[in-house]
Amino acid sequence: VLGNSFGRIFRVTTAGESYAGAFRKNDEIPQLLRGGLTTIVDGIPDGVQIEAPEIQKELDKRRPGQSEIDTPRSERDKVYILSGVMENGMSTGAPITLYISNGELHDEHVEKHASYKGVVRPGQATYSYFEKYGRNMDWFGAGRASGRETASRVAAGALAKICLDKMGVDVVAYIRSIGSVQSEEVSYEDAKKNYKKNIVNCPDLDAGSQMIELIKEIRDKDDSVGGTVEVIIKGIPSGIGEPVFDKLDAVISHAIMSIGAVKGIEFGLGFDYKTKMGSEVNDVPKFNEHSGKTDFLTNNSGGILGGISNGDEIRFRVVIKPTPTIARKQETIDVMKKENIHLSISTRNDPCICPRIYPVCEAMTRIAILDSMYCSFGYKAVKKMINDK
Ligand SMILES: Cc1cc2nc3c(=O)[nH]c(=O)nc-3n(C[C@H](O)[C@H](O)[C@H](O)COP(=O)(O)O)c2cc1C
Repeated sequence: VLGNSFGRIFRVTTAGESYAGAFRKNDEIPQLLRGGLTTIVDGIPDGVQIEAPEIQKELDKRRPGQSEIDTPRSERDKVYILSGVMENGMSTGAPITLYISNGELHDEHVEKHASYKGVVRPGQATYSYFEKYGRNMDWFGAGRASGRETASRVAAGALAKICLDKMGVDVVAYIRSIGSVQSEEVSYEDAKKNYKKNIVNCPDLDAGSQMIELIKEIRDKDDSVGGTVEVIIKGIPSGIGEPVFDKLDAVISHAIMSIGAVKGIEFGLGFDYKTKMGSEVNDVPKFNEHSGKTDFLTNNSGGILGGISNGDEIRFRVVIKPTPTIARKQETIDVMKKENIHLSISTRNDPCICPRIYPVCEAMTRIAILDSMYCSFGYKAVKKMINDK
């Protein structure tokens, strides 16, 4: 109800902030535990082999400080499995607790954030958090609205991936545009082939080089830039999704729009539908006599009809706003002192969030898909038991 959990059967709960206040300065707590994130994942069935390095692999995709266009922050994001898995790596069916340490938590960074207490960062969550939580809000590094919270989602998504891999369902995300640099739409196969071939993860390699140059230019002007991420889901069976409030596209949208800095999502043709005729864009089904299955001649709907998967690949795009925190001088307010002020902030930030957000989009998609499969196959299994009697 209070928005810290997602999913109906496969359910993920995250706790922790950018610098996780309560255990930041407590000497009774070992250094390793200070400022970390906790994730509880309920719904991994028993008997699944879960190893920390597989989760770590996904976390390392999101971790800052890995390339010349990242924030210089280098939180090591090491993951520990605390419950729900036996010593042989087998899940027990109980909730799995994951702990992600923050190996780069230094007093100087905390003090820098403390010096901005009361200062609203334009475009950041500070103002609305203050309206809701008042003086008790976490002022350090955006608290729960921090991009750091998304490490928890990536860890949970890695567990969903282990399950989806076994069912032949794959999720891949890539950068489609940054600022005015637009890449071509690529096939699932090309997105896999050129996955992470450049530091922006754009499989259109020419466009990728231009994106990197653009990000550097914008960083040197103390500014930031937005972009789009494209996500493909391959191998999802038809019949997944529920009427009417839990349509598959509605559940995926909820998952994706819950990520900070995401401002929009479109499936298939998306907003391009607005100027089209039905005769141009309807996906025509054809019965395939060889396979006995139905093929669609086009996939403008993005693989979902009536909120239920039609067996085609699911494709959607997500728009990401420019990183709100920028070094350039801006007008703002101090909500504690009730003053108009100028701000040029010098904490560490990414000039573009896209290269760090695509693994979060993959993770939230996997969580939404696995949860939706639980619901739809649960319905099917109960229906069968009733109708077989
Ligand atoms: C992976 C990731 C990294 C982010 N890094 C930053 C950052 O370095 N600086 C910043 O101001 N916002 C960053 N954000 C964005 C904020 O989380 C978010 O935009 C802000 O809290 C405002 O919320 P809204 O954009 O959803 O309205 C990041 C978000 C994500 C998902």
